Amino acid sequence: MQGSLHREGINMVKAEDLTLIEKASLLSGQSEWESRELKHRNVPAFVMSDGPNGVRRQTGSGDHLGLGESKPATCFPTAGTVANSWDPQEARVMGEALGAEARDLGVQVLLGPGINMKRNPLCGRNFEYYSEDPQLAGRLAAGLIEGIQSQGVGACPKHFAVNSQELRRQASNSIVDERTLREYYLTAFEIAVKEAKPWTIMSSYNMVNGVYAHENEHLITEILKGEWGFDGLVISDWGGSNDIVESARVGAGLEMPAAGLASARQVVQGVKDGRVTEAELNASAQDVLNTVERTRNTHPTGDGFLAEDDKIRNHEIARRIARKTAVLLRNEKNALPLKKNAKLVVVGDMAATARYQGSGSSKVNAYRVDNLLDSLKAREDLQVVGYAQGYDRQGAERADLVKEAVNTVNTTNPDVVVACIGLDERSESEGLDRSHMRIPQAQLDMLAELVDTGKQIVVVLVAGSAVEVDFADDVDAILYVGLSGQAGALATVDVLTGDVNPSGHLAETWPVRYEDVPNSGNFPVEERDSVYREGSFVGYRYYSTRNIPVRYPFGYGLSYSTFEYSALSVDDEGVTFTVTNTSDVPGADV
Ligand code: GLC
Repeated sequence: MQGSLHREGINMVKAEDLTLIEKASLLSGQSEWESRELKHRNVPAFVMSDGPNGVRRQTGSGDHLGLGESKPATCFPTAGTVANSWDPQEARVMGEALGAEARDLGVQVLLGPGINMKRNPLCGRNFEYYSEDPQLAGRLAAGLIEGIQSQGVGACPKHFAVNSQELRRQASNSIVDERTLREYYLTAFEIAVKEAKPWTIMSSYNMVNGVYAHENEHLITEILKGEWGFDGLVISDWGGSNDIVESARVGAGLEMPAAGLASARQVVQGVKDGRVTEAELNASAQDVLNTVERTRNTHPTGDGFLAEDDKIRNHEIARRIARKTAVLLRNEKNALPLKKNAKLVVVGDMAATARYQGSGSSKVNAYRVDNLLDSLKAREDLQVVGYAQGYDRQGAERADLVKEAVNTVNTTNPDVVVACIGLDERSESEGLDRSHMRIPQAQLDMLAELVDTGKQIVVVLVAGSAVEVDFADDVDAILYVGLSGQAGALATVDVLTGDVNPSGHLAETWPVRYEDVPNSGNFPVEERDSVYREGSFVGYRYYSTRNIPVRYPFGYGLSYSTFEYSALSVDDEGVTFTVTNTSDVPGADV
């Protein structure tokens, strides 16, 4: 159902027919996850919940940090990982599964996707955002939104806009010139809004050029609604509303979470003081009523929990998406795919206990999580002859664990060592930014010792965003799996064994070192104003313009096949060229 509803004659109360206090009370939530219900007006509440890669439906008191309990749900790969598939159709399939789970778990608006640009690799939430490129992010977002909304659940692209660092996120002011704002930071939202028509959008915590996003007339009234024709509801981030009267005036309809009736009284007073007209208030309140109507028939078909067959089906969907997101970064002497009956030693705490999602409000209570060690052991055509933890997950130096790993390799004489390393749960999270771009030193020290054994080393790299890979030339193969969701380990084994030919390609540039990042000198900014001096020279726009060598360029990804590109032609319609698979291994390319 698209378009504004009252034109379709849906029989529901209109904002203009409500009393002042009734419509004012619609502009803020009644609990952590619910909009305001007006029982006597037959206006039900609708339920919002995170998140972008799985439904975090909390019952009872909730929180916006991923701390409290939530109902079991499917944890799909995070946005930063899905992006490596470059496939909006896969995003749509994921959206359909997410929308169905949201509906069955009692959620009417799902708070995702996250489509902020990856301005700097150290932003703590990069795992939750698609890309450094607005076109790729916009098209993937449109796919996910269409999928979610095909199930009668509202999507909510976020965080509108220019939300690029976690430090002081509720008090930071992004100062960005108009051209950069339009061309770079808003384009993904523009594509998502125009292509997929989301029913809601979430404003960001930060200020943009001095005005908080949830009350920013230029962003909301002039661009989002005025130019792009957005006819949905602008929802604040949780605690992101600063002046509800000003928000009502510019057309931001819902302050979350519950602010009691204090906000409603402020809005009524604002009308009396002439700070907001009743017509402006009606328009904002109508956005809330339209969302109620769009989601009115979206309620659980069962008991409010996932059915077993849905879990089985969605686990396979999560696995299939993860297969398409793995990026082969290095493969010397065809170390991969693993040979039949190869003897393996598996090393790494993250091999036994998977790291498969980010930390914070996107955190899903996965009903099943596969791990790399057991998934490799389950293969009849491989022999896991040893395992060692190798390192402390939180990064403490543990010479004993390194020694144990080396001994395991030396005493079992494997064909290959599969080392699973990367960022741990505390390295990248909502609410804080990374302090450097390396993986924990303890892991690097261990890897160096493994290399010294002289054995073939295959690295499975886990991280939600770019990391420094100084060890690249010391190992035989590197498979980057991102944060690949609850079925990610199975998908990783599908790729390691050659059952699946890797076709993932990086959706962000991996610089050689952090110092090469254009804004590395002023990120994250500790004071109020973060001046985006680099303009739109972010990611490949910067490195290619300045001819700065990078470790792995935007779009990089190897395959078990080899491809040739020919007959390139460019015209007003776009670019066409011929891709030829010059190997005898079937494969896909982007
Ligand atoms: C959080 C996040 C936002 C999330 C919301 C509700 O602080 O910024 O992405 O949807 O609050 O949990």
